[in-house]
Amino acid sequence: MDQMIGFLREEGVSDGILSDVEAFRKFYKLSPGMEKRIPASQYNYYGTDVWEEALSTILAGENLLLSGPKATGKNVLADGLSRAFGRPQWDISLYINADAASLIGTDTFKDGEVSLRKGPILKCAEEGGFGVLDEINMAKNESLAVLHAALDFRRVIDVPGYDRIELSEATRFIGTMNYGYAGTRELNEALASRFMIIQMPVISEDNLKRLIASKFPELKDDYTAQFAELFTEIRKKCEGGEISSKSLDLRGLLSAIEMMKRGLEVDKALSLGIVNKCFDAYERQLVSDMIQVRFPGNLDRGMVFKA
Ligand SMILES: Nc1ncnc2c1ncn2[C@@H]1O[C@H](COP(=O)(O)OP(=O)(O)O)[C@@H](O)[C@H]1O
Ligand SMILES: [Mg+2]
Repeated sequence: MDQMIGFLREEGVSDGILSDVEAFRKFYKLSPGMEKRIPASQYNYYGTDVWEEALSTILAGENLLLSGPKATGKNVLADGLSRAFGRPQWDISLYINADAASLIGTDTFKDGEVSLRKGPILKCAEEGGFGVLDEINMAKNESLAVLHAALDFRRVIDVPGYDRIELSEATRFIGTMNYGYAGTRELNEALASRFMIIQMPVISEDNLKRLIASKFPELKDDYTAQFAELFTEIRKKCEGGEISSKSLDLRGLLSAIEMMKRGLEVDKALSLGIVNKCFDAYERQLVSDMIQVRFPGNLDRGMVFKA
């Protein structure tokens, strides 16, 4: 976990913020058995400004909403925040059927007595956890209503038939929502007002090079650069309105590189991961042409990866 602080320092996050994060970690202890709920280090989020904004929001005691196009690292950042602050994390999916009872808790019979089986929101509230409310804009209003008092200054959860439960001081909620170039379902104002909101940027070309190099260290350097530059080129065409955002798919690009690593030819892999995301023939051709310019011929694994 202290690796995480080291990483943030290298990223250029200010010393003032980092010493506050360390103080937070020293102050708020974990209950036994909670360490395993701290997300394991996998991949880091790259982007110094976003890191500073996100860390400052949590330090200020606020809840955080990450809004942005697909694959802008919203969940990677949420995991990184739990890791940086050393808090247990609950992934609370607000899929359309999630009702208040399943989120907070339900009465169950155990040894002839009624007892409360605690739901994820309640556990997160009690343990000083970070609750990740994924795709919060897709949740139905009834399930969000239970969150209103938890998310504002009251910091309580009303458990029907039981006491009101106060949130631990360390508890925070981190919402994510896909809000792309094409737009999607909006979040209602009452809920939005309970969060500080970061509009997540698409990863910069330099950071994308670092990301690709860290995921695929066996890739030759000039190809790492080519893939990152291709992504930037597609992004610019999207922003200019020439094509839709369907092929601006970082997950698709990373999966395509993974398939190349397993032996698929470069152009085939990029078709599967990127080109074929477009359902419009004209757009498919445009994207395919961009790829042909950068990756002419049938490049195979041996040409793109180090021995
Ligand atoms: N700024 C970034 N830093 C690190 N990884 C990123 C960044 N932006 C996108 N990614 C990568 O994109 C992929 C999707 O990330 P994820 O957090 O699931 O996106 P989201 O939740 O925004 O759809 C991951 O492989 C992640 O590593
Ligand atoms: Mg996500």
